[in-house]
Parts: sequence; structure tokens; C-alpha cells
Amino acid sequence: MPNLSQIEQARRDYNIDEWGAGYFGIDDRGFVECYPTGRRAQAVVLHDVVTRARQRGIHPPLIIRFPQVIASQLLRLEQAFQRAIREFDYRGRHFGVFPFKVNQRREFIDAVIECGAQYDYGLEVGSKSELIAAISYPLSARALLVCNGFKDEEFVTMACLAAEMGKNVVLVIEGPDELQILLNKLRQQRVTAQIGIRTRLYSKGSGKWENSSGSGSKFGLTIIELLDCLKTLQQEGHTDKVTMLHLHIGSQITEIKKFKTALKEAARIYSKIVRMGFTAVKYLDIGGGVGVDYDGSKTSSQFSANYVLQEFVNDAVYVIGQVCRDENVATPDIVTESGRIIAAYHSLVVTDIREVQAPSAASANWTQVDHRETERCLVELRYIYDNINAKNYAEYYHDAIEYHEELATLFNLGYLDLEARGCGEELFQEICRKALSFSVRQKYSVAEFKFLRQRFVSKYLANFSVFQSIPDAWSIGQLFPVMPLSRHHECPTHEANIVDITCDSDGCLAQFIDCKAIKSVLGLHSPSSDPYYLGFFLVGAYQESLASEHNLFGATHEVEVSVAPDGSYDIAKITAGDTITELLESRNYHRKTLVASFLKQVERLQSNGTLDPSRGSEIIRDLKTCMKSYPYLSS
Ligand SMILES: Cc1ncc(COP(=O)(O)O)c(C=O)c1O
Repeated sequence: MPNLSQIEQARRDYNIDEWGAGYFGIDDRGFVECYPTGRRAQAVVLHDVVTRARQRGIHPPLIIRFPQVIASQLLRLEQAFQRAIREFDYRGRHFGVFPFKVNQRREFIDAVIECGAQYDYGLEVGSKSELIAAISYPLSARALLVCNGFKDEEFVTMACLAAEMGKNVVLVIEGPDELQILLNKLRQQRVTAQIGIRTRLYSKGSGKWENSSGSGSKFGLTIIELLDCLKTLQQEGHTDKVTMLHLHIGSQITEIKKFKTALKEAARIYSKIVRMGFTAVKYLDIGGGVGVDYDGSKTSSQFSANYVLQEFVNDAVYVIGQVCRDENVATPDIVTESGRIIAAYHSLVVTDIREVQAPSAASANWTQVDHRETERCLVELRYIYDNINAKNYAEYYHDAIEYHEELATLFNLGYLDLEARGCGEELFQEICRKALSFSVRQKYSVAEFKFLRQRFVSKYLANFSVFQSIPDAWSIGQLFPVMPLSRHHECPTHEANIVDITCDSDGCLAQFIDCKAIKSVLGLHSPSSDPYYLGFFLVGAYQESLASEHNLFGATHEVEVSVAPDGSYDIAKITAGDTITELLESRNYHRKTLVASFLKQVERLQSNGTLDPSRGSEIIRDLKTCMKSYPYLSS
């Protein structure tokens, strides 16, 4: 019989209904499910997907991708605009462009293009490489191709070539120097791209990326530069080329108020430009920034957002409409460059647990050895151990730290033997354990005891690389929902941290989402003979783009899953992860050269008689086989 109350508890503990946005939940058997279409009747049990993938030779770590989630997010965005446009009687439409940098995987962008075609969805690029990839897509005639980022002449040429190929290209001027490059092109080229201008707003965003806007930002033109730029374009006769005003106040906007303030400023600037005679301006590109509620708190915490998508869109449509009415100018088409909100939910990383390093259990082996306690520090530690209680635990713990240090000093000076040191270490460990047990009963936990708790957590060795699969967890302390894919009918038995298989102490996770706050331990189960998989959720935005091959752990395997109307599902596509050879090739260790060097070494050993002549070819053959394999731990 499934333990439903434990399952309810798990739903609360992992906060899945809050961050899951209708795409993730726990079924009544304790398995984590994905609802790719947002409908509960079409559920995919994630543990089953891994089992099926394994049957096809694909082992964790792996990414599970749900293209239907991308479609669903595009639909949610589009519907939010349609609702707002109707409600506020807005005269203008919405054009979405997907920012390439958020997830450059071909499989992902293909899905955006396919699902977005019906909404004239376009692309946003920030470099020449991204632009070339974007040009390869047959976008609809009205879909936009927005070129942001710093540009040289070649970038501008590429954009103009794309325009000549019939694409609706807007080259956004990010800084004053770009104008001159653009003007040269406008003089030479027959067909040129339209011009957009990115404005550097006074208003700032909020959260981790708030410096993407405001007067100190590295992007966009100040009001003075904007005026100079417009004047030059007017003088050169290119007034009709300027079609877009652009802004982006930073990713993951946590506070809606900041967005509204920025938008009021931007809509004012837009209106003034139109009133200056730039009547071809018809797009107001409000950038990205819609926050993903990673922790499910719906607050302005840096991992959440204090608004929902519909509110964001309502505010955009309402504010722009109101300012334009006020200024008596036609309302623009609103362009969004949402990345995170479109991509985050569509994929998760799954890894298996290879080992559990449990904290050493209380053994009382050495604490019993009374005759060793001749040194003062040992006598004191023994006293603290016997007398620590709920009232004095903080003070006694502080004293114990001092005696513990004394213990190490005495040992280093040669006054203690190893057994006496062992006795002192064990006494100290047990004092810490007792102090911790008293501290957790207090209403407010003190930071030092939170830190102490880390000594007693189990370390779950997960077969993946933080740097490859969730690089933001390492680089900016981003929190992602993490949870086991099964056994939620059982009460977790371990308070755990997660460590990865890289040789880097930063490859660990010690902060987790909780329904109330951030917690320093994750509840996990004791591994059994069945595979125990952990899922890292909402990793579809930025993580693959920023992935790094630390220790030469490369791209993981991927499976693409889609669900049919009757709820059955299919692994539609499998993409194998990087092999050792591919990773080495990317660092200029070419296969041929490597094999030649192995051969040379083997021949030398054979010629001086160190190696049996028959082993040489076998070693080379085996090394060649190893080079074709997956660098992660295999089963
Ligand atoms: C210019 C620009 N547009 C769009 C985005 C995407 O933002 P988000 O992923 O928060 O929607 C970014 C990212 O910061 C950006 O720099």
C-alpha cells in the first residue's frame, strides 16, 4: 500500500507543486512525473524513461528533454499577450524572438522554430556565430531576426546578407561606435537591415542581473548618445530605416515594480522618438527578464519572482498603451526576447548515485580509554562530553573548539600518541553531535550550528559534473530543484549533500530548495539494490550554453520524450554524449596522434624486452576501445 501521507509530505518538502509550474509532480506511488503538455492525464514517469533509455544503451548521466514543454511555454506566452491585448484594447501585436544564447543546442532551437512558426516567432542573436546559425532557419516573413551584441563590419555585412535573403532583420545599435560601421554599410549595400537602437535606461532591474541596465550598464546608448545617433541618421537620410527601440533590464527580474518603472521610461523614450519624426519606428523590444520561480516561493528572492507571466505581460501591454495614448502616438508592436521562461522547464538532468559517504557513526572506541586522559585538554573534553546540556551547549561547544585546537598542537609537538589523539578527536566529534542535537531544538538556529550540521551530513556521490550540467550552481550559486525520481512513499533516511565526480571541491551542492527557506541538506533515501536516480530540474536555460568540460567530462547523453494524447509516450530521439575521443580532439589531442604515440611507447618496451611481444597489439586495441567510451562512470 503506498504511503499517501508520506507522499504528501514529500510534495511539500520538495515544494514540487510550486516550482513545477504544472509540469512536474509526484504520483501516488511515489514517482516523479512530467506532464509535458501541462495535462495531468498525459504523465510521463521519469524513472521509467531512464529505465527505457538504459534498455537502449543510454546510461546516466543524461538529459531528458520535453519539446512539448517548449511548445506549451510558447503558447502560454502568446496567450498571455492575446489576453492582455484584448483586455486593454491594445492596437498592436506581440512578436517573440528567442535569444540564441539561452540554449544553443540544435535540438532545442529546432523545437522553438517548429513550435513558434504559428506565432511568427523569431530569433535574437548576440554574435556572428549565432547569426549564421539563425540565418539557416526558414523564418516566416514577419518573424524578426534581432541582432544584438557588439558588432564589427563583418557582423553588419552578415545581417545585411540575411536581409537580402528576405529575413526581417533588425540590427540593434549597442554603442556609438557601431553607428559609423552601419553608416558605411548603408552607403554601400543595396539591401540593408532595419535599424534598432538599444537605450540605456536610468531605471534598473532587480536580482542578480540588475546591472544589465541602469546608467552603469555596458549596453545601450545614453540619452545624449541616442539623440546624437538619431540626428546623424536623420542627416544621412536614414530616418525611415529606424524601426525599433530596444531595452533589456536584465535576466530573472525578481520584482515587478522595477520592470514597470523601466517600461514607463522606455515607452516615454519610444513616444518621443516617434514625435521627433521617426515614424517608421514600430517595434518596442522589451528584452527578456521574465523570472522563473526556481524555489517556488513566488517572492522577490533571487531564485524566484514576485509575479506570474500574465502579470508581467499585462503590465507591459498596459503601461506601453497608456504612455503612447498620453503622448498621442500609435502603439508599437511589442517584441519580447524571453529566454529563461521559455527554456528552463523543458529539460532535466538525471544522474545515478554511486556511493554514499555517511558521517562516521558514534563508536565510543577511544572515548572509553580512560588512562589516556592525562593531558588537560583530554580531561576537559571528557568533562564537556559528560556535562553538555540544552542550556550550556553553545558555551561548552566553544570551549570544546579551543581544547580541540590544543589537542592538535600538542600532537604536532610530539606530546601525544596517536591513540590519545584518537580519543580527543572522538570526544570532540561526540560533543559536536550533542551540541547540534540541542541546537536543532531551538527556535532560531545560529549560523555556526548550521555550519556544524554540514559535518554530519551524508555525501551522495552523483555521477555527473556540476560544471557541465548545472554550471550556474557553481558560478553564481543558482539554486535548482533537486530530488530523487522515486521512493517518495518512503521517508528519507539521510540528510545529504551532493558531490559530483569531478576532482574539484566546488563540484558539490549544499543548498537546496525548501518550502520555507533555503536548506543546507537534502532528504535522501538509503540506496538499495534498485537504481536510485536524482533529477536536477529547470535546467533548460543557460546551463547547456555555459557548460564547461572540467576534467574533460563533456556533453551528456540526451533523450527526447514526447507524450501522445492517450498518455503513452515515446523516446523520440537519442543523442549520444561526447566520447573521450571527441573531448580530446577538442583539445587538439587528435586520435591518430594519440594512437601513434601509444604505438611508439609499446614498441620501445617490446624492443627492450619489458613487454611481451603479444601484449603490444592487445594494449593498443583496448586503448582504442576505451577512447570510444563515455567519460562518466559506467555501470
Ligand atoms: C539582450 C538580451 N535579451 C534577452 C535575454 C534573455 O533574458 P531572459 O533569459 O531572462 O528572458 C538576455 C539575457 O540576459 C539579453 O541579454
